[in-house]
Amino acid sequence: MLETVQAAPPDAILGLTAAFKEDARPEKINLSVGVYQDENGRTPTLASVTAAEQRLAAAASVKSYLPIPGAPEYGDIVRQLAFGAEHEVVQSARAATAHTPGGTGALRVAGDFLTANFPNLTLWMSEPTWPNHPNIFTAAGVPLKSYPYFDKATNALNFDAMLAAINEIPSGDAILLHGCCHNPTGIDPTPEQWEQIADAVYGRGVLPILDFAYQGFADGIEDDAVGLRAFARPGAELLVCSSFSKNFGLYRERVGALTIVCPQADQVKAIQSQMNKVIRCNYSNPPAHGAAIVNTILRDSELHSQWEGEVATMRDRINGMRQQLVDSLVEKQVPGDYSFITAQRGMFSFSGLTKDQVETLRTEHAIYIVGSGRINVAGLTPSNVDHVAEAISQVVGQPA
Ligand code: LMR
Repeated sequence: MLETVQAAPPDAILGLTAAFKEDARPEKINLSVGVYQDENGRTPTLASVTAAEQRLAAAASVKSYLPIPGAPEYGDIVRQLAFGAEHEVVQSARAATAHTPGGTGALRVAGDFLTANFPNLTLWMSEPTWPNHPNIFTAAGVPLKSYPYFDKATNALNFDAMLAAINEIPSGDAILLHGCCHNPTGIDPTPEQWEQIADAVYGRGVLPILDFAYQGFADGIEDDAVGLRAFARPGAELLVCSSFSKNFGLYRERVGALTIVCPQADQVKAIQSQMNKVIRCNYSNPPAHGAAIVNTILRDSELHSQWEGEVATMRDRINGMRQQLVDSLVEKQVPGDYSFITAQRGMFSFSGLTKDQVETLRTEHAIYIVGSGRINVAGLTPSNVDHVAEAISQVVGQPA
């Protein structure tokens, strides 16, 4: 039987990292997967994480199973980080949280939860979106449609078209939004636009799902929650998929969470039981280590402020590299206006490079970026940015 199985196509993002590893050219640069690198091209383990791990190692070790939704104190702290400790959603205890293996795990549990409880629902995604979004929800059996998001002509949010599309979504469907640092475009709604989006979504009777993977990478931990909090209205329901891969640098520990905010606290038990049901037949219960680190840091005021400082350092370095990339492109007189790169937020820049140009960057310059033209700005360093700008200048000069 197995002889009949055909090879699957490589993953749009992680497939590139696999190809990068095989590439023997010493000058190669990986700007594909969203992983932060410091100015020396290293992905650091945060000092707050190391300190938390030392404390955990010194404490008594327990290796028995966690509960299906993870440790309750982790769920509490995840909600406090997303909504704010004093927020009504937290205070009224009307949200259920499951600790999941990464943000991807949170999205998959959300997909399984939707299929199990709302089999006729369609999920609406932004065009474009993270290439793994359709993979995850299709695997979970959720039908998909898309709404417009990006205006190619202006390199900005196509807000009118987005809002008009939301106003056509049938009641009882769900919509997936990027809580901040939209992946791949790096373009987010303004706080006022978030309010209008929430008005439209709730006005239509549509269930919002916020993918919240980059808190702290745009303006700050609190500021970046403004979109999510626009949805956290009294009595309103929403799903939040958190990831701590980027803002804690815990990529390989696979630590995330799915939070479902219910209209009333008395619905939490039923919702939690349905989450538990889909988790139990998937990975049974979560891996402990990453969540223990996050919990330790966020519950200790010293480690918490050290961590916030480290997130600010990553954010500032990325923004500095945005500026350096633009300066270098201007200096090389690359045709086109690239100033939009400094207006984008988070790890990524949607460069506008075509598929062919992306391919040429890889084959002729050993520079790996995602096929959509998405550049991981967090992979640029003072020593590679000029080389990248030079390569872009060469491919932009070629016919698309
Ligand atoms: C990305 O978009 O590069 C990251 O979210 C990593 C991933 O899993 O694709």
